[in-house]
Amino acid sequence: LYERAAFAVDAIKKAIPHPLNTPKIAIVCGSGLGGLAQTIEPEPKAEIPYASVPGFPVSTVQGHDGKLVFGLLGKSLTPVVLLVGRAHFYEGHEMPVVTFATRVCKLLGIETMIVTNAAGGLNPVYSVGDIVAINDHINLMGLAGVNPLRGPNEEQFGVRFPPLSDAYDLALRRGAHDAWRKLGIKRPLHEGVYSFAAGPTYETRAECRMLRTLGGDLVGMSTVPEVIVARHSGMRVLAFSLVTNKCLLDPPITGDNVLLQNLSESELDAFMTRGGANHAEVLEAGRQAASTMQVR
Ligand code: 6GU
Repeated sequence: LYERAAFAVDAIKKAIPHPLNTPKIAIVCGSGLGGLAQTIEPEPKAEIPYASVPGFPVSTVQGHDGKLVFGLLGKSLTPVVLLVGRAHFYEGHEMPVVTFATRVCKLLGIETMIVTNAAGGLNPVYSVGDIVAINDHINLMGLAGVNPLRGPNEEQFGVRFPPLSDAYDLALRRGAHDAWRKLGIKRPLHEGVYSFAAGPTYETRAECRMLRTLGGDLVGMSTVPEVIVARHSGMRVLAFSLVTNKCLLDPPITGDNVLLQNLSESELDAFMTRGGANHAEVLEAGRQAASTMQVR
């Protein structure tokens, strides 16, 4: 893996001129947030499609483009690389493929990964459009045996048994809260626990109740594999979820012994027809948030 990641880095360094190819910060753009690339300077953009990087999986999902964009971000002109588009486990990639770009970032010299995603809100306090700084995660797949670090340890990257008790950097989270206040951002910023589900199905109501009971505030299909690999190699991590939809936890009508015969016609309609999450709604929330979050 080390050699393959180093090979990818060579290709990137050849395609992107110095000094743009030496950022210390990488930003993974989640669903609908790839528009951040349009705010990067200078023009023309120093970018390379994933298809031109050996070993990079090419994403198939609508709203996940697939390119690395190098440049300067914001008023501070901070050197960054944006990862526009990411590989997901549900696309059929194995975990080392899902996390290959993270390893490439490490060998590129990245010290801090900012990871963003779209997620369902399990915490009833969250509204659609809120941002959550992830402060911990629940990796059900990992606990059950599917972990990106499974297999012989890649010693060049990190240790065999890495701790994850402080995976989400406290000082960086503190910085996010300070920046929120300083910039007067109206969009609420919460903190919460992200639970990782393989997808591609959205969760059932019973699964949402289970995840909530286990301590999850959010549920989504990315981020956790990348965070594990980033922490393995000692990169600092800051991760944000955009709440794109509220998970349905309870049946529309609750009670231990609902007698359907006793419901009115309209109550029965409600009982039968309330919908769940869908990709269009997730992308739309991403688009709306992007318009306020990326212009700064
Ligand atoms: Cl409700 N579930 C999962 N697994 N991922 C999501 C989501 C829900 N909403 C956005 N992404």
